[in-house]
Amino acid sequence: MHAPFEDKTIALGVTGGIAAYKSVELLRLLTKAGARVRVIMTANATWFVGPGTFQALSGLPVCTSVFEEGGASIRHIDWAGETDLAVIAPATANTIGKLANGIADDALSTFMLAVTAPVVICPAMNTHMYEHPAVQRNLDILQGFGHHIVEPDAGSLACGTVGPGRLATPDTIWEAMAALLTPKDFKGRTLLLTAGPTREAIDPVRFVSNPSSGKMGFALAKAAARRGARVILVAGPVSLADPLNVEVHRVESAAEMADRVQALLPEADVVIKTAAVADYRPVHTADHKIKKTEDHLAVTFERTIDILHSIGRQKAHRFLVGFAAETRDLRENARQKLEAKNLDMIVANRIGEAGSGFEADTNKVTLLHRDGREEGLPVMSKEALAHELLSRITERLPSD
Ligand code: CTP
Repeated sequence: MHAPFEDKTIALGVTGGIAAYKSVELLRLLTKAGARVRVIMTANATWFVGPGTFQALSGLPVCTSVFEEGGASIRHIDWAGETDLAVIAPATANTIGKLANGIADDALSTFMLAVTAPVVICPAMNTHMYEHPAVQRNLDILQGFGHHIVEPDAGSLACGTVGPGRLATPDTIWEAMAALLTPKDFKGRTLLLTAGPTREAIDPVRFVSNPSSGKMGFALAKAAARRGARVILVAGPVSLADPLNVEVHRVESAAEMADRVQALLPEADVVIKTAAVADYRPVHTADHKIKKTEDHLAVTFERTIDILHSIGRQKAHRFLVGFAAETRDLRENARQKLEAKNLDMIVANRIGEAGSGFEADTNKVTLLHRDGREEGLPVMSKEALAHELLSRITERLPSD
């Protein structure tokens, strides 16, 4: 499930806007993810980016006209039947208007009437054009057809105006497309996730923390949202952007994380705690910056609340998953945490091994289940691992 584009045929429609150059990057992301991408361009789009660029990157002929050389004039109709998902990026006001009204006067608009696969429309235009009632009405009509609209970003536009109208980023469009190609096995479930480190302040400019990057928790949030869950993510200080369709709550300290998790807990069916929560915090936080007057500085620490332990005591119907980062006696320590915190599953990983742990993009874990089973998983990307974990969780959730 982590490879939604593998063996899929995607139609990428490109229309005549300055953002056409960004669809080159989208094409690259799609082919990298294993998709076969057929590009259909309007005549105006070819004015911004040459078809040769798309042809070279897709490795396939690009369709620019209904009437192609050699008389094979129905290529776009054949393509429609073979498409798993169609995306138009950028979509101009003109093309949006044509699609809303069933006009088919070029290869792309003709193709779009013939295609029955899911459709993603990514508008990009001047802010006033985007906000014009005609364009908004046409987008509503497309939504009514079941098309998925990826809203443009707000910002300063090539035409000099500031406001909504800038094409969504290729990553955002890719994620919206991935969501449409992924089965929704978490539909109706609410997942509460924690991610990243916490920071425990010593004074206004210093804190105690750890190198957790939040990558595992964010990968899980993204994967669960793509699989149809409502996802609530409580994140410590990390430099990762909010994933699409995830409700993100940013916190700093273990106490703030505990309060937020406790408040959101009643809504959750599944709780996954990837956060590397600080176990200790300074007893006192100085009001002002501590000056270097002494040769030694002693800071006294006290225990923070064990959030997962406290959730385990209020478990009810909830499926609880913990993470255990260990430098030794991995399975024994993890099993002991699973029991002490009343968990259904614990994901144990050895810190300090290559390709695993806090800042890596990959992870190598052992899963310990409540019923005593253990499974060692091979090294894999955090994205792939996120999907593996979710698949194991969904198998064990009660069906409604
Ligand atoms: N955890 C938590 N609150 C804490 C500490 C840990 O919710 N104050 C959660 C983590 O999010 C993780 C699990 O408990 O899912 C295990 O965390 P870990 O740091 O490996 O273990 P600890 O219980 O803190 O035990 P120790 O530090 O002694 O290994």
